[in-house]
Amino acid sequence: MTLIIAIDGPAASGKGTLARRIASHFGLPWLDTGLLYRAVARDVLVSGGSLDDIAEAAAAARAIAAETLDDPALRGPKAGDAASIVAKIPEVRAALLDYQRAFAGQAGGAVLDGRDIGTVVCPGAHVKVFVTASDEARAQRRFLEHQGRGENISYHDLLTDIRRRDARDRDRSAAPMLAARDAMHLDTTELDANQAFDALLTLINTKLGAN
Ligand code: CDP
Repeated sequence: MTLIIAIDGPAASGKGTLARRIASHFGLPWLDTGLLYRAVARDVLVSGGSLDDIAEAAAAARAIAAETLDDPALRGPKAGDAASIVAKIPEVRAALLDYQRAFAGQAGGAVLDGRDIGTVVCPGAHVKVFVTASDEARAQRRFLEHQGRGENISYHDLLTDIRRRDARDRDRSAAPMLAARDAMHLDTTELDANQAFDALLTLINTKLGAN
């Protein structure tokens, strides 16, 4: 049986943690597609380029290497903000599409999380989920994550970053952040990580049982 699960949602909505746990539950490989955009931005900046240079960003996207995605420098808010600038460029998105579709096409299936998985990357996914939470809950979670790593970033800076990035992702014309019409919705504002996982698993099992 093949199972492709698409998990989309705004910045810091918890979709990454949920996707990792759902992948492990179903024994499927997981791709955090945000890392691809973060790595493209990193590669452009490392080579001294500009994030809105279409040719440079597209070349970096075409040259993306899976082994470079496991880089702690990709995790911070600066990398996320830079990612959302290159993510507006249609040529960048097109260059990353093959990589994502090849990943999703593996025997048995895969779990992918991002902004446009259910709408553009895997419109035929068996399960689509759009994960949300209030701006404040998302900023607070990211604040605790950074604190846990000993990084000193203010809650208010994180809230501003999340709102700016969401607006950029929602308002762009190329594959904007959007719930697919057939996506199930999960609001995790009032849920802790375990409750969110249980709620998502129930949604997925109900959906699979109904097919
Ligand atoms: O982890 P977080 O939700 O903060 O962000 P991320 O998933 O790592 O994504 C970083 C940025 O990459 C987003 O703000 C989007 O601009 C972009 N992105 C995208 O455009 N499409 C995707 N499928 C995934 C990420």
